[in-house]
Amino acid sequence: MPDTSRLFFALWPDDVARDKVAVLTEHFQGKYGGRAIEKESLHVTLVFLGETPNSYLSTLLAIDANVATPSFNLTLSRAGYWRNGIFWLGPEDSPLALSALVVALRDKLKEANISFDQKPFVPHMTLLRDAKCSDSPCVITPIEFSVQRFVLARSVPGSKAMRYEMVREFSLG
Ligand code: 2AM
Repeated sequence: MPDTSRLFFALWPDDVARDKVAVLTEHFQGKYGGRAIEKESLHVTLVFLGETPNSYLSTLLAIDANVATPSFNLTLSRAGYWRNGIFWLGPEDSPLALSALVVALRDKLKEANISFDQKPFVPHMTLLRDAKCSDSPCVITPIEFSVQRFVLARSVPGSKAMRYEMVREFSLG
């Protein structure tokens, strides 16, 4: 058993939103190619920790960054492409509660001396990897979902792509 896990905190949308995103994934994959993220793996990363010693898990499982954050709605209303081949959906404006949740998580991790990717937070849901696209971001029919929880997830290599396992769910509010 390895003594580290590749961890991240994320939002895991409900099945209705997931179904809608999967339809868009198929549409955009038809246009831009790339490898589609499987429906059950679609998520919005909040904080990426990367390879983390398993000895930190008990601290991570007890993280209470959710206490002050109420539940909120997130609306994915734009689709776009980054040069690293990622084709994504994202909100036009990031809800304040979402930014607050990310800040609270980062603060708790800093307090616990647990390292994480400190790049600025850009809320997005990856649909395709290795896509080829030169179009500017476009507006989509909005996909809204209620965010009442977030998860600590672990990436594990699958036969074709990374699989994600939920380590723990945290309720908001
Ligand atoms: P991405 O979808 O934009 O690639 C698990 O790897 C999740 O953590 C993915 O959603 C990935 O975002 C995100 N992530 C953020 N920073 C990362 C990094 N430096 N390396 C790998 N994944 C990262």
